[in-house]
Amino acid sequence: MSKPSSGKRLIDALTDHPVDRPPFWFMRQAGRYLPEYRKVRAQVGDFLELCYTPSAAAEVTLQPIRRYGMDAAILFADILLIPDALGQKLEYREGEGPVLEPIRTAAGIAALKPDAIHERLSPVYETVDRVAGALPDGTALIGFAGSPWTVASYMVEGHGSKEFQETRLWAMRDPQAFGALIDVLTEATTEYLGRQIEAGAHAVQLFDSWSGVLSEDQFGRWCTGPTRTIVGRLKRRYPGVPVIGFPRGAGAKTAEYAAATGIDGVAIDTSMPPRWAARALQTTVAVQGNLDPLAVVVGGRAMEDQARDILESLSNGPFIFNLGHGIVPQTPPEHVAALSDLIRNWQSS
Ligand code: CP3
Repeated sequence: MSKPSSGKRLIDALTDHPVDRPPFWFMRQAGRYLPEYRKVRAQVGDFLELCYTPSAAAEVTLQPIRRYGMDAAILFADILLIPDALGQKLEYREGEGPVLEPIRTAAGIAALKPDAIHERLSPVYETVDRVAGALPDGTALIGFAGSPWTVASYMVEGHGSKEFQETRLWAMRDPQAFGALIDVLTEATTEYLGRQIEAGAHAVQLFDSWSGVLSEDQFGRWCTGPTRTIVGRLKRRYPGVPVIGFPRGAGAKTAEYAAATGIDGVAIDTSMPPRWAARALQTTVAVQGNLDPLAVVVGGRAMEDQARDILESLSNGPFIFNLGHGIVPQTPPEHVAALSDLIRNWQSS
């Protein structure tokens, strides 16, 4: 006999339970495309301040759930809160994105303060607690963090980048020194996610947004390896809490990543063929994805046809409907409503 349902579609899909329809949520479902987000953001002012103000962060986490009734809320925070909590100087500049004081030496790594992170991060745990208490019963709360490689990329470059050359050069020239940074992040990320789970997160996602710049051997060392360590430690402490990994841009390496890390679900980006994912990934893990966020900007038939094709391709196995990357600011909110209705009403033909 199958185990009883968790009462949450998202968790059922991640734990081998049958679901009446695919659960859905959207990366960056809270954010600038929503007028009610822009209002809170303008009131609070600074983006980091918004992340560290539990009442406001909980409010913006819940906004998309009220509008669209997704099967999961995702904690409102950012992957760069970890470097901030470790003591690296961080600011978000309007129109430019995050700017950090780059770390490129062993001394820079040694100056980080891993013992102090929870002090700075405690408002995030309070946000989790508030949201968990406010969500409808069937709606899951997803906690998250960036993966060590992706977070390290920002810490070393000092800003976003297309190629992350400084980081890749350091990782290849002096894997020992760079590895010390990855170790600090692996430890901090495990503890951070653990606290989110204890505060009420029902599942967690690791965002490895820049894993796609790595060759196979570097990918194994800096993405799959640390992810396996984090997942292993979390599973020992919180065996029932599913972990989703998002190795964006990993292409065919995703199969090895899914098999080797111990994750329960893998998020795939827009470039991945859904039918390939069904064959190569769904036999091992649940698959999450992967509508082009720009299809939601366009809306109408273009969006609906692509969404139906993904549903047809992946609904025979464990599946969570999502986008291949985050919702972009110019997305019309009514297109998100139409997409949510399409998924809710979808039936396999
Ligand atoms: O709704 C959600 O998905 C939850 C909140 C969330 C944010 N960032 C809020 C945010 C999540 C899960 C993230 C993850 C994140 N942050 C990633 C991984 C996913 C991805 O996009 O690849 C990365 C790389 C970051 C780092 C980051 N944060 C950048 C590069 C930027 C600037 C670019 C931008 O979109 O402005 C941010 C800022 C940020 N994080 C915003 C939001 C809503 C925009 C802030 C604002 O001006 O209001």
